[in-house]
Amino acid sequence: MTGFFDIHSHFLPGLDDGPEDYGQCLEAAKRYVAIGVDRVIATPHWIQGSRWTPTPEEVRRRTAEAEQWLHEAGMGLILLPGMEIALSDSLCRHFIASDFISLAEQGYFLIEFPLISHLKATAADVVGTMLKRQQENHFIIAHPERCIMFQENLDSIRKMVAGGMLTQVNISSILGYSGKTAQMAALKLCNENLVHFLGSDSHARAGRMPPDPKEMSELAGLIGADAVAAGFRDNPNRLLLGEQVFPLQMKATEPGSTLFPSLPKKVVQGLLKLFRKQ
Ligand SMILES: [Fe+2]
Repeated sequence: MTGFFDIHSHFLPGLDDGPEDYGQCLEAAKRYVAIGVDRVIATPHWIQGSRWTPTPEEVRRRTAEAEQWLHEAGMGLILLPGMEIALSDSLCRHFIASDFISLAEQGYFLIEFPLISHLKATAADVVGTMLKRQQENHFIIAHPERCIMFQENLDSIRKMVAGGMLTQVNISSILGYSGKTAQMAALKLCNENLVHFLGSDSHARAGRMPPDPKEMSELAGLIGADAVAAGFRDNPNRLLLGEQVFPLQMKATEPGSTLFPSLPKKVVQGLLKLFRKQ
């Protein structure tokens, strides 16, 4: 399959914990081309109080430079600017100051919630404000399956999605590379139609690279080729065109069939019961 489109990728060297140089970018670009990705949104971290607070102008300039470099190296990947914005108490103030850039500058902001802590009351207020602003901006929650607050309480993400927020799940989480808890959460979210985008969250170096062809085929085995196409091609293209996006539909599964193929049938049936309970 071709025309894949990754909306979450740490691709620009020297801006965060992504690639250190263009050599590492090239390795990631080769992996993208091998699985049929032709567009990538570069999403460097933006974290309040850290050294990772690139300006929109810097991200635009660095994205254009990286794309040019790749083209000169013979890689025809289209790169678009974006950011992965860490949730903070001061998020609203930075929005007002236009410190952020949306994904491909289309009004969809990729927001990262805390991974290993719960929301403080002040940050919860920020989320309330974000929910009220859904008419003006779209918010995409980055890899909720990796956040402890969502792993422990799926209701919170159900409410946010019902309120208009979108979600992006990491392909690597579905494949189990971020642990069983994240994998279970990712599959539950997919199973409940609470996922809109799939992304690599590649850091363009060992640790988290874009998926390879074998991993893409494993991904399709777990959630279905249609869901992969919806989350990793169709919805990203709709985002780019300003069209409505839809939750991806995970393929119907029979107990013990394709989910967790390496696990005994009884264990799989137990896991599926758990899906239905929550
Ligand atoms: Fe990321």
